[in-house]
Amino acid sequence: YRNLRVALLGGGSVGAQVARLLLEQKEELANRVGAGLDLVGILVRDVNAERTVDLPQELFTTDAESLILGADVVIELIGGLEPARSYILMAINSGADVVTANKALLAAHGPELFEAADHVGAQLNYEAAVAGAIPIVRPLRDSLAGDQVNRILGIVNGTTNFILDRMDVAGDTLEEALAVATELGYAEADPTADIGGYDAAQKAAILASLAFHTTVPLASVYREGITSVTPEQIESARKAGYVVKLLAICERLVDEEGRAGVSARVYPAMVPRSHPLAAVHGANNAVFVEAEAAGSLMFYGAGAGGVETASAVLGDLVSLARRHVAGGPGFAASSHADLPVFDIGSVTTRY
Ligand code: NAP
Ligand code: HSE
Repeated sequence: YRNLRVALLGGGSVGAQVARLLLEQKEELANRVGAGLDLVGILVRDVNAERTVDLPQELFTTDAESLILGADVVIELIGGLEPARSYILMAINSGADVVTANKALLAAHGPELFEAADHVGAQLNYEAAVAGAIPIVRPLRDSLAGDQVNRILGIVNGTTNFILDRMDVAGDTLEEALAVATELGYAEADPTADIGGYDAAQKAAILASLAFHTTVPLASVYREGITSVTPEQIESARKAGYVVKLLAICERLVDEEGRAGVSARVYPAMVPRSHPLAAVHGANNAVFVEAEAAGSLMFYGAGAGGVETASAVLGDLVSLARRHVAGGPGFAASSHADLPVFDIGSVTTRY
């Protein structure tokens, strides 16, 4: 099978790590997919900007149209609504499959993009759009598709969890902690999206839509950010045995008239220190899912960060590339690595 041409839109915190891993793991990924994944270009605003990751200069371009129209797969990591929406539609309409981490776009225009993809039979994957490295989109979309999800309770924004954690354990101000979160690549290009709760609300809209098999518009998600959380409130919560966390809560409800519906809301909440969510530190996220048959499930891990998020993006890429490659390896055939399995006597680390 011929190699797949992969176009990367965005070479920032996440995009640069995706590019690095695509180049460094080229051979291994080709074996897993059954065809090579050729990175054909990286769209940026400024090809001469200084970059923290060393990548071949000739890959950078500002010519979006040529890059998109020459690709089999387009990975959108520029963020925001436009031009990201137009670029994704251009990719889909040209017959390419798409991976995106753009929750702002999906929360605002998801139905339009999914319809466009369905119309031409293109794949549109977005695991990285919610909770960074944590697999939560596919578990809700696929693994739990035969169950009934009743409630989701989560910490889904790494920046605000990082800030609230630093205010709690190190006595930082919100501004001090936000500066560090931005430096570490956790925050959005405009960090108001994080501290204002908009990013968490976008993720809540995506999670609720997936979990409840309906469209939950962003405008229906109740939202409060963390900007009015004071050090004094954090201190008095601590004295009372609580910790302040920005929670996203999505649940099935019955209203006063007995009508079944759903609700999604985001706000800073007092979490008892004994609760597992209280132990989610730094930029980590955690998502609890309560389902009718499965019971309670918990998904935990890095909720933000360039390389961590790149893991979810590449997972989406491998997954759709495998389907793209007609006659490519099935899961049995893709167990190609042929690594030795050691007996217990050779194991040096035991738990
Ligand atoms: P970022 O660091 O701000 O990088 C954005 C990249 O896109 C830059 O390379 C920029 O070019 C390029 N770009 C922006 N607007 C463009 C335009 N109009 N035309 C061409 N190129 C453009 O963003 P990021 O943190 O990597 O985030 C990317 C996406 O991933 C966003 O949707 C974000 O919400 C999502 N996400 C991020 C994280 C995270 O931890 N950072 C986690 C999960 C999901 P220049 O380099 O020339 O400026
Ligand atoms: N700014 C986002 C966060 C990135 O802090 O969670 C991951 O979606």
